[in-house]
Amino acid sequence: MENKFEVLFRSIKVGSSEVKNKIVMAPMVTNYCGSDGVVTERLKDYLVARAKGGAGLIIVEAAYVHPGGRGFSNQIGIYKDELIEGLRDLVDLIHQCGTKIAIQLFHCGRQGHSSVTGAPLIAPSPLPCPICREMPLEMTLKEIEDTIEAFGRGARRAKEAGFDFIEIHGAHGYLINEFLSPYSNRRSDEYGGSLENRTKFPLEVVQSVRKEVGKDFPLIYRISSAEFVPGGLTIEDTKSFALLLVENGIDAIDVSGGVYESHEMIIQPADMPQGIFTDNASSIRAAIRARVPVIVAGNIKDPYKAKEILDEGKADMIALGRAFLADADFPIKVMTGKEKEICVCQGCNKGCIGRLFEDKALSCVINPTPDKPE
Ligand SMILES: Cc1cc2nc3c(=O)[nH]c(=O)nc-3n(C[C@H](O)[C@H](O)[C@H](O)COP(=O)(O)O)c2cc1C
Repeated sequence: MENKFEVLFRSIKVGSSEVKNKIVMAPMVTNYCGSDGVVTERLKDYLVARAKGGAGLIIVEAAYVHPGGRGFSNQIGIYKDELIEGLRDLVDLIHQCGTKIAIQLFHCGRQGHSSVTGAPLIAPSPLPCPICREMPLEMTLKEIEDTIEAFGRGARRAKEAGFDFIEIHGAHGYLINEFLSPYSNRRSDEYGGSLENRTKFPLEVVQSVRKEVGKDFPLIYRISSAEFVPGGLTIEDTKSFALLLVENGIDAIDVSGGVYESHEMIIQPADMPQGIFTDNASSIRAAIRARVPVIVAGNIKDPYKAKEILDEGKADMIALGRAFLADADFPIKVMTGKEKEICVCQGCNKGCIGRLFEDKALSCVINPTPDKPE
């Protein structure tokens, strides 16, 4: 009998790489790594379980490209060459499961704590994030240049470790997003002011990454399609920015939303509808005339919603975050007609983001040991 969710299991070309299905595991900081950001057995076990569960592409959590950009104490790092070996071991294990793997390049900017970075926070402008409440230093032109280069070096390490893709974390109010947004960028030099000036830092990061990995290496860019804060970016802004990304050689756009002040839009509570960014993804897809695949995340909890989004042509791939935390075998269960057996994420946000914001290791109320598969 034909599988009614077959559309989820068609392969797709993203840049020069083929992904076996359209189910992406969204990046989620685990806090499972060493205090220097090194890959651990625990992280490997957790991600291998999701690869065995049938994910087409795993986007490994945000990896800090510079110690000053570390958001959480045990987040994964990609800021020095000594970390490449551990990253390579992880990549090899995921490849053995037939799953493609990306790493997300990240700098926390003002959305962090100097107790974790070990240095003052840096940002486009001296404006504290209303949630983290720590005053960042305004970045000098030299710091801007150094940080752009740090993204490039992170990309070079990712390629050397064998990752299939790199995702640039341009979303959720972190450093790259901070430059793009008038909500957090009040600079009066060439990196602030007009939309064109605010795109300069993100696009220079893209160019720095591209220079290191070569023209054929597939790059994904994660974007907050709207910020949901007064004076923040709207979908109209991000539609034109998405076009610039494609013109600058980005191979896929991963659509999310929100910044820390609107955190309920980044990680949605239980009472929000499923697929909250579907319409934004669809608008971005139309704005770029579907020239590259669009991935969409945001409270997608069951295969019916995922199928509907693809059937309606609103996005090209579906990213699942907490659904994968609650059940590593989500794709396999859907593929084998056992979708009713999926342990469904309840959106309580206690074990996952609740713990992460206390700087503890990732867990899940309905799957408390996601790193210890049966
Ligand atoms: C614990 C946790 C950690 C997260 N870490 C990241 C991250 O490292 N990078 C990122 O872009 N998004 C991160 N997110 C957001 C998810 O990728 C995803 O966009 C969000 O959870 C909504 O999707 P979902 O409803 O499928 O979980 C995180 C979410 C959670 C719950």
